[in-house]
Amino acid sequence: MSGSKSLAFVSKALLVLSIIVHASVAATSGNCPCSPNPTTVIELYIQTVAYTGINTNYTIYAVAGIQGTNFGNGQFGTVSVFDDPVTIAASPTSTSIGRSRGIYAVADLNGGTLFITSTFQFTGGQYANSSLNIKGIGSALLNVPMHLSIDGGTNFFNDAKGNVTLVAISNSGPNSVARATINTYKAI
Ligand SMILES: *[C@@H]1O[C@H](CO)[C@@H](O)[C@H](O)[C@H]1NC(C)=O
Ligand SMILES: *[C@@H]1O[C@H](CO)[C@@H](O)[C@H](O)[C@H]1NC(C)=O
Ligand SMILES: *[C@@H]1O[C@H](CO)[C@@H](O)[C@H](O)[C@H]1NC(C)=O
Repeated sequence: MSGSKSLAFVSKALLVLSIIVHASVAATSGNCPCSPNPTTVIELYIQTVAYTGINTNYTIYAVAGIQGTNFGNGQFGTVSVFDDPVTIAASPTSTSIGRSRGIYAVADLNGGTLFITSTFQFTGGQYANSSLNIKGIGSALLNVPMHLSIDGGTNFFNDAKGNVTLVAISNSGPNSVARATINTYKAI
């Protein structure tokens, strides 16, 4: 970053402008604390194929765990890496607009809770070339929503804040589908 005076002036002017915008949003919405910018709600679907022991089409794989235990979703310490297609509808054959790539760890001594960190990498649709980072804990059980936080991103999601509700909505053999409802707004 160059420390030129004009840049400093522009950023000060933007700050003043953003305070004015913020103030006017606050004045009109009347229920602050409120988001500094309008929230964008995006609904996406994540297509996962588990490893069955023989299939080669898996999108998630348990790569590490406590020695001497059977790695798995119920076992504390199991770490899995995933690379799941992200689609615009629940059907696995609907249009794919990117990938959800990241790590699950069973971070619960009783085995029920996953720690998740993932990046949605968009390659198609209106968010193409953008990425969104999400993080948090929750249950992978069917129909049990987990609430994750948004941890920034790039391009459209640059300085993004907000949350993601992730819920597994169907399960069939090794295939499962999760719905992600993304509530995001820009940080100021
Ligand atoms: C992956 O392969 C398994 C076993 O061959 C099959 O049951 C499953 O439907 C396949 N999943 C997808 C999404 O193609
Ligand atoms: C994404 O990047 C490619 C290559 O740089 C560009 O052609 C395309 O217009 C970009 N798409 C969006 C939605 O920004
Ligand atoms: C998610 O964000 C929306 C919009 O800011 C908010 O209304 C909702 O309460 C948040 N949900 C959680 C679980 O944080």
